[in-house]
Amino acid sequence: MTPPWISPELVSWGRLPMHAVPHDERLSLDGTWRFQLLRRPSDRPDDDGWLTAAVPGCWTRQETWDQPHYTNIRMPFPGLPPEIPDLNPTGVYERTFRVPRTWSSRRVVLHVGAAESVMLVRVNDTDVGVSKDSHLAAEFDVTDVLRRGDNVLRITVVKWSDATYVEDQDQWWHGGITRSVFLYATDHAYLADIGVTCGLDDDLRTGRLSLTVDIGFAGIVPEPGWIIEAAIPGVLPMVRGMTERPGPPSWPLATVTRRQIVGGPAAVADERDAWREAHRREVPPAIGRVTIDVRVSGVEPWSAESPSLYPLELALRSPAGDLVERTTLQVGFRRVEVRGLDLLVNGRRIFIRGVNRHDFDQHTGRVISADSMRADLIQMKHFGFNAVRASHYPNDPAFLDLTDELGMYVIDEADIESHAFQSTLCDDPAYLGQWLARVSRMAIRDRNHPSIIAWSLGNESGHGANHEAAAAWLRTFDPSRPLHYEGAIRWDWTSDQRISDLTCPMYPQLADIVEHARSGLQRHPLVMCEYSHAMGNSNGTLAEHWDAIESTPGLQGGFIWEWWDHGLVQRLPDGSTRWAYGGDFGDEPNDGDFCTDGLVWPDRTPKPALWEHRALAAPVTLAFDALTDRLTITAKPDVLDLAWLTVEWEAAIGGDVIASGAFPAPGIGAGRSAVVTLERLPNNVRESADAFLTTRWRVARDLRWAPAGFEAFALQIPIGTAHRGTTSVEVAHGGGTEVVADDDGTIRHPLLATTPVLSLWRAPTDNDRIGGMAAAWATAGLDRLERRLVSFERHGELALIVDAVTTGAGLVVSHERVVWPRPDGGLTVEESVAIPHGLADLARVGVILETVPGLEAVTWFGTGPHETYPDRKRSGLVAIHRSTVAEQTVPYIRPQENGGHADVRWLELRDADGRGLRLAFDRPLQVSTTHHRASALAAATHHPELVPAPETIIHIDAAHRGLGTASCGPDTLPAYLVGPGTYRWTWTLTGIR
Ligand code: GAL
Ligand code: MG
Repeated sequence: MTPPWISPELVSWGRLPMHAVPHDERLSLDGTWRFQLLRRPSDRPDDDGWLTAAVPGCWTRQETWDQPHYTNIRMPFPGLPPEIPDLNPTGVYERTFRVPRTWSSRRVVLHVGAAESVMLVRVNDTDVGVSKDSHLAAEFDVTDVLRRGDNVLRITVVKWSDATYVEDQDQWWHGGITRSVFLYATDHAYLADIGVTCGLDDDLRTGRLSLTVDIGFAGIVPEPGWIIEAAIPGVLPMVRGMTERPGPPSWPLATVTRRQIVGGPAAVADERDAWREAHRREVPPAIGRVTIDVRVSGVEPWSAESPSLYPLELALRSPAGDLVERTTLQVGFRRVEVRGLDLLVNGRRIFIRGVNRHDFDQHTGRVISADSMRADLIQMKHFGFNAVRASHYPNDPAFLDLTDELGMYVIDEADIESHAFQSTLCDDPAYLGQWLARVSRMAIRDRNHPSIIAWSLGNESGHGANHEAAAAWLRTFDPSRPLHYEGAIRWDWTSDQRISDLTCPMYPQLADIVEHARSGLQRHPLVMCEYSHAMGNSNGTLAEHWDAIESTPGLQGGFIWEWWDHGLVQRLPDGSTRWAYGGDFGDEPNDGDFCTDGLVWPDRTPKPALWEHRALAAPVTLAFDALTDRLTITAKPDVLDLAWLTVEWEAAIGGDVIASGAFPAPGIGAGRSAVVTLERLPNNVRESADAFLTTRWRVARDLRWAPAGFEAFALQIPIGTAHRGTTSVEVAHGGGTEVVADDDGTIRHPLLATTPVLSLWRAPTDNDRIGGMAAAWATAGLDRLERRLVSFERHGELALIVDAVTTGAGLVVSHERVVWPRPDGGLTVEESVAIPHGLADLARVGVILETVPGLEAVTWFGTGPHETYPDRKRSGLVAIHRSTVAEQTVPYIRPQENGGHADVRWLELRDADGRGLRLAFDRPLQVSTTHHRASALAAATHHPELVPAPETIIHIDAAHRGLGTASCGPDTLPAYLVGPGTYRWTWTLTGIR
């Protein structure tokens, strides 16, 4: 017989059906187990070879010879499905346990939370079962094989298998038991499965509760009269249902073996389906099934904004009325529909402000605690997300309890990705069972969660017969939720495909989705399953995306790729640690740092792009009338209400606060506006170019995810009427006497270490590199500029310097400067740079200044406090920000351009005694201060493109290219490109004594 790990047709053996019942009588088996790692599953464990390993735990994170391995699309080994390599790490986990005496007459089930990728289970030397699917639990009835005293449980986990080909997600490959293991006990009559659909009537106050409970009978003959009681305290008085005599009398009563669970999945009761209703009344449901349909009045609907949950208390009683088992499910009443081109929750068109999330921990790999999941979700809420896609597999059930509780829409995704073989496996009947099992088991386990608003058939697995079968199963099993599958719409957004109710493209061009929505050909709501690839310094044009989404009917948002930067903590020989990516463990082949593409670093520290999302997700828009001092607050159309917020405001000119106040947020929602009159502002506000109103919106009362006073978001609007973009900073010319330029064209100042030089290069971002721009810049030699003095003239105290700057590829850029000394000892430089047509796309046009050492404190008036770039600055608040040069470094895992601030008007650098320099600009410019020098584009190692420098290096850019998202998806928009033409700007340097 072919072994189970190379038998795609074998999905499981001895495994119990999936269910959604939390059985509470548990014995945890987590902890330290005996462990050994074999080189192949056919090897025999060595009696003397036992080490120990943590359960749950990835052995790849526990100092074994098998290391983490990262690949994106390609498989980590050669071959065709279901071939696997001879070297196939196989973990043998063993432990001894005793069951409580009180369990001696109970039915006992072993629950293994998850194991990658195949588990073979033995108890007391008896084979109990086999299971595949690395992200769902497997359960085995072990009642018959348990004995008094010590029992020995062995779980053999085989890393590579036929199933690996359908778990080819873009992430680290690990091995191990990754979720908790426990035993639970039940009576021989027990709650085998519970399905609850909690719909809502049109009044959004009357709930429709449809309950299907399957009672399992292990080793006992089922009889009619078993009772299910259901109640929701305060809302639903106790209702009862009873098992009936099975079938019409002519039906033979099947003999039920103790391993058999009667009932199993069936269609959810649907009152609109008259035929099914009638049929059900005429023929009682399967033996052991109880269905209850009731209306529940006066319920609060569940939504991400207002996640009202109700405890549904269920009890199982014997025909004699004895209590056998009870359990409580948290249920939420809500309605999800696709109506026309709209995805509606409770009749409201919502926006999906979503993010994709993998299970990740920088230390343990894929083993995460409920606390870690909670921390993720709370942070998502803090940054304005309302949706998460469980990319690309079902999460731990604890995660869904949390999304229910905290309020987060979920697309629950089946553990299917056959990326390397996406055109074949989806049609391969040998894999059909795996498709069906993965989809159906997810849905059976998770269907009771109100937070799940759609089922996803998986990711990047093509579109084939296996999908059609799985979709058909899902549609029958759960008609209450729409389906999602990107593979179905990949080649044609307008096709009449049957297996996705959403058009859910990944990384589309913004213009394409807008055009699609306007084309008249759209058939489904458009929600991008992935967009705005967060790799390195990225997420450019997020604001343009949201402007389009919020203003284009048919577009409803999407899920940013992704939450985590998957850098694993790796200890190096010298004792230091780093965040490792593909290749760092000697893993071959690998896809380098493509796994570090999240909005948070591996320790969950927010990356700057997260702040941008927070600003864009703000539920309000603001408008200010400078003549009347009236602030109009408009709730965005998807907003329930604003009453949970309070507002603090500040008006400032040039960064100096001139007025401030606070008021409770108006109780409005759904596109409505309210007007707040602020205190009379001084008249000069109106004339100023640098007058801003900053509003900070705080949580009014404690929420589950934020305490009262927590700043939910901040928004700023200009309130002056003067043209924004001209600025009042002092760029005084002339009057000085000191010599500030030498005859060779060197600009001198005591606070500058070297003469300022032209810069056209930036340390390539991941987007620049993977998008191919960096290679083009390197070919043009923008990292190797040579300056040649063409002419130098003095006119009084003024110096006119003309340079010809030649790029490595021989293109010439003309750089002219007029340098003026200032009476205060400083200098003013008027810059003019002519970029020739041969340089169509540049990283930047600017100058680099290097200061004398020791100027560490930095203060600037411009956007901040977080890093901003021309296409990622909506979150930037124009204010006077204070920091240090060291703190300006944004430590992207692969070092790259970072620390920029858009729209800077002036900047000061000081030493510990408060002495230093001040730079002022004739208009807002992109500026950064750093202790790094950008070097040439290098190969994929850890510290290639940035070299530490002790000096403070200042970039003053007349133009700086947008960031875009070209590492996977669209580049920045044309408006943010830097191309040929003449760039002029002026800066002034003065000393601060
Ligand atoms: C998508 C894929 C994700 C991830 C992402 C790039 O194509 O669904 O799993 O690979 O691209 O980071
Ligand atoms: Mg993939």
